[in-house]
Amino acid sequence: MPFSLLFPYFFVSLQTNINVMKLKLLFAALLLSQMTMAQIRREINLKSWEFSHDQKTWTKVNIPHDWAIAGPFDKKWDLQKVAITQNGETEATEKSGRSGALPWIGEGWYKTTVDIPAGYETAELVFDGAMSEPRVSINGEEAGYWAYGYNAFRVDATPYLKAGKLDIDVHLQNVEESSRWYPGAGLYRPVTLVLKQKAHFDDWSLYARTMSLEKDKAVVEVEGRTVNAAGMHVFLQLTCPDGRKVNNEVRIEHDGKFYAKFVLKNPQLWSPETPNLHTLNISLGDMKNMRKMDSKTMKIGVRTVRIDRENGFQLNGKSLKLKGVCLHHDLGPLGAAINKTALIRQIKMMKAMGCNAIRTSHNMPSTWQMDICDSLGMMVMAESFDMWIYPKCKNGYARFFREWATKDITNLVLNHRNHPSIVMWSIGNEIPEQASEEGRQLSIQLQGLCNTLDPTRPVTQGLDRADAAWKSGVVQVMQVPGFNYRLHRYADGIKQMPQGFLLGSETASTVSSRGVYKFPVKVTDNSQYSSWAAGYDPKAILNADGQCSSYDVEYCAWSNLPDDDWVWQDDYKWVIGEFVWTGYDYLGEPTPYDEYWPARSSYFGICDLAGLPKDRYYLYRSKWNKQEHTVHLLPHWTWPDRKGLVTPVYCYTDGVEAELFVNGKSQGRIRKNPKERLYRYRLRWNNVKYEPGEIKVIAYDEKGNKIGEDVRMTAGKAVQLVAQTENEEYRADGEDLIYVHVGVNDKKGVSVPTCQDALTFSVSGEAKFEAVCNGDATSLESFKQPKMKLFNGELVVILRPTTKAGKVTLTVKDQRGKLKPAILNLETK
Ligand code: GAL
Repeated sequence: MPFSLLFPYFFVSLQTNINVMKLKLLFAALLLSQMTMAQIRREINLKSWEFSHDQKTWTKVNIPHDWAIAGPFDKKWDLQKVAITQNGETEATEKSGRSGALPWIGEGWYKTTVDIPAGYETAELVFDGAMSEPRVSINGEEAGYWAYGYNAFRVDATPYLKAGKLDIDVHLQNVEESSRWYPGAGLYRPVTLVLKQKAHFDDWSLYARTMSLEKDKAVVEVEGRTVNAAGMHVFLQLTCPDGRKVNNEVRIEHDGKFYAKFVLKNPQLWSPETPNLHTLNISLGDMKNMRKMDSKTMKIGVRTVRIDRENGFQLNGKSLKLKGVCLHHDLGPLGAAINKTALIRQIKMMKAMGCNAIRTSHNMPSTWQMDICDSLGMMVMAESFDMWIYPKCKNGYARFFREWATKDITNLVLNHRNHPSIVMWSIGNEIPEQASEEGRQLSIQLQGLCNTLDPTRPVTQGLDRADAAWKSGVVQVMQVPGFNYRLHRYADGIKQMPQGFLLGSETASTVSSRGVYKFPVKVTDNSQYSSWAAGYDPKAILNADGQCSSYDVEYCAWSNLPDDDWVWQDDYKWVIGEFVWTGYDYLGEPTPYDEYWPARSSYFGICDLAGLPKDRYYLYRSKWNKQEHTVHLLPHWTWPDRKGLVTPVYCYTDGVEAELFVNGKSQGRIRKNPKERLYRYRLRWNNVKYEPGEIKVIAYDEKGNKIGEDVRMTAGKAVQLVAQTENEEYRADGEDLIYVHVGVNDKKGVSVPTCQDALTFSVSGEAKFEAVCNGDATSLESFKQPKMKLFNGELVVILRPTTKAGKVTLTVKDQRGKLKPAILNLETK
């Protein structure tokens, strides 16, 4: 007899009498164990495909795959004559590298064949995203289509099951001027085949949420829809991180829906500091025939999100500021092809900086990335669109918005709403309609749709035209008014806003190149090396080198420095946090060098395209990381041509005071000054004269205690290459990646920050060369060839282990043969 008939209520709790609970647990377990298994669900990750550009020549590929990332880089791929109106430009000029200068435009075909094991009655293909306009055919017939390259979608493959095999073909097309950055190309995210019985769960209907949270009690509700399962039973088991199990059981009525409630005592909550995950197992049982029909396991988090005028952003009832970064989806030298190791590396690096949130600008995230944010503890603002009806680039998403927006938001929310990491949805970025009544209406509709599908999370959009958006009423209708830049409009804005708080949905857009320092140091929103400067001085662009200064004082006409944002973040309770543009450099949008060639990736990153930290990383770390002290000195101290010249020195620290020494001579002990723009968060010695040797800084806290020191030494001639892995263990599964940092030292072991030597990489044993990147936005060397120049003494090589465990050797040599090679030995398991 079903348990629900024995017990007329259908929830159990940890508070329930322990014997009753044990009895229920045993009974449910017993019932489940006695059921014969139909061929219950199988989820097959379809990795092996063939790829072609013309359907004549085919190459074997593993997906995730990005057909364009190997290059070659060329100006011709995305040469455009346009005015970037968003950047305030009114005249069209020639632009290159805007979308990465890589060959992503064009058509691509993928095909694969899957033999279907006997005993399954339904099949579905789940694409986590395909770039772009994927048209899916099965056994020669068109079976599905999706317009947006960033969204997940499902294709019903049940009608083709009889054949016993599925011949799957996917056609993709990327049209020119359809993206403001590098979108990637191909099946760049996983494709999964899900096989089930006729009676099964509708996967995206499953929804687990925390309904309430009190001091020592949480209520979690789970709902879902079954197909062809009326009269059957759903058995739910929630396993807490500490191993406690709570069972539940529900009978399915005619509408196929089910609903269950769990009351958890002393719940182990999810937060960035404690990314506790609960395992929810849901099984479908046919009691008449004692058969288990379907089963699904999900990781969920117990946590609540709330924002209000009194307490700002609250996670689990505690106020906190969002210390966030915006991330584009590409993974530098891997392109758009996603990889778990690469995603983990990104998130860990941001967490170590003290960052607690990411914004998936400006589109739907991948499921892998959200899984990783769940398990590592990183909050997420999941975004959807960069444009609605009015195009920001000629062939962008505006072509699809009217027909597809509702479907796209629906898939975004249904696919991702069980991720505890996601704390907010975003319906758009800098949408031109923000200035109009139409924009207000659309905002209400899209926000309403998010709320209907998921009433637990607030909705925002990034607004860049504060005044126009107030006038139109768009600011007022948003649950979370998001301001992109426009710090000078915060104070007025808040007075008019009914919400009583605002979010810096996009901030900073400070630009820098790792290891590059420009003299004299000039704080400017109009870099002297940049293309806009060409407007004032035509020679400027000719003299440009395509790099920005790492003194972190250069930004754009519409943006600002990190320090400017922090004043608002610190001094005004109603500012609930920020998302810095950007955590990492990304392919495309080489502002301020949109008109300069070669330049093909961004300068906005806190880390460069190889994932190496720029100085700015330590500026954010000094502010955001409250666990560890930061004492970071810049610039490097190897300037053979600057003897006797003024070479300013900065220290990024959480301390309040520091003393700088040049070759032992004090340059003064100075203190942060909250009243001055560039002295509140940094310590600067602006008149230091360069002399070779050593600079050293000692930093102190408020009480005068020393918190740490940092040193830069003048390097001699480069003699020795050095290679170091970032992790210690590697899986021999063909999917893990080995990130190797390569540098170069002088004979005393001091790293040489000026070395630009060309290197080669050879790998033997159980790994293959995967990619290389030096973080130089002007480099035209392919990421996929085993050779590259150092950029300011550093680069990153990536290896991919084979599926056989064993030894791996990487040898790094310089092409001139002047340096001692680096030989790295490791083992995969
Ligand atoms: C913002 C925009 C971003 C990026 C950034 C560069 O206005 O939302 O996508 O273009 O500017 O500063």
